Amino acid sequence: MQNNVRKIGILTSGGDASGMNAAIRAAVRYAIYKKIEVCGYYEGFKGLINNNYKVLSNNSVGGIIDRGGTFLYTARSELFKTREGLLKAKKNLQENSIDALIVIGGDGSFKGARDLSELGVKVVGIPATIDNDIYGTDLSLGFDTALNVIISLISKIRDTASSHERIFVIEVMGRNSGELAIRSGLACGSDYILIPEIKVDLVKISNEIKNHREGKRHTLLIVAEGAAKAEEVASSIKLLVDHEVRFSVLGHIQRGGSPSAVDRVLAAQFAKEAIDFLASGGTNAMTAIQNNNICIVDFKEVFSRPKAIDKELYDYSHILAI
Ligand code: F6P
Repeated sequence: MQNNVRKIGILTSGGDASGMNAAIRAAVRYAIYKKIEVCGYYEGFKGLINNNYKVLSNNSVGGIIDRGGTFLYTARSELFKTREGLLKAKKNLQENSIDALIVIGGDGSFKGARDLSELGVKVVGIPATIDNDIYGTDLSLGFDTALNVIISLISKIRDTASSHERIFVIEVMGRNSGELAIRSGLACGSDYILIPEIKVDLVKISNEIKNHREGKRHTLLIVAEGAAKAEEVASSIKLLVDHEVRFSVLGHIQRGGSPSAVDRVLAAQFAKEAIDFLASGGTNAMTAIQNNNICIVDFKEVFSRPKAIDKELYDYSHILAI
């Protein structure tokens, strides 16, 4: 198809995720290689509404490939959810002669992108959220880095838990999704994983912990924030097990840090796919990775259902913990 895309906008929106900078860098440099100009909008959709942007050159995205966060900044804009906000954004894009927009973010950001596309703006999403909860892609940027951060933190907790013979309840992020909890739990050899998608019986778990404590120096429970509060789980277990229990909420530390190799490579692949897709006239879809293949998935498909957890992996992790 004829390439009539001459100028594109790019923004990062929602919770920051490591790999966003690597994606911006790759998108800018690949676009320039394809003779497309790129404008970076600051603070997500807020920047579109306030017309706060900068033309990005090869040099302006230098030195960011290994930086966490997003140098374009991000925000969760309420105004963008209104028709007034969307129309203002569209008007600004038109006045700046922007032919298409790349939105790097999670499913909330993609809903904003979809709404904009319904007004005739060409958009493509690049999935980036440490929650990895977007249907249609096996991986989102930031997930692998967050997992690596979590694993290194839990290793440290395991040292002290073992030294003191304690039970530890560790809360990881994941508002509606147990992905981070399942994979970090498996990778750290945790005993139990509590996730929003599966209800568990704390009394049953406490009885099991009590009966299996002999010879065990530590017991680790990983709790996704959407499932329960670590503090509350810890006090219930303490009452039922009568053993020393501590809890730790890992919090936003999980979102920071230099992106892993997996996230950097994926960022570059997603950026190329996004530019090629827009240049060929595509819109209203996101880049994805499925079974190791980079592809495009329509937003309609992305919003058709929630991403399911890997129940087999969850069960397997508990088998290994026995
Ligand atoms: O969506 C990513 C995420 O990190 C969730 O896991 C978490 O619940 C949320 O963002 C926290 O958002 P905020 O940084 O706005 O507190």
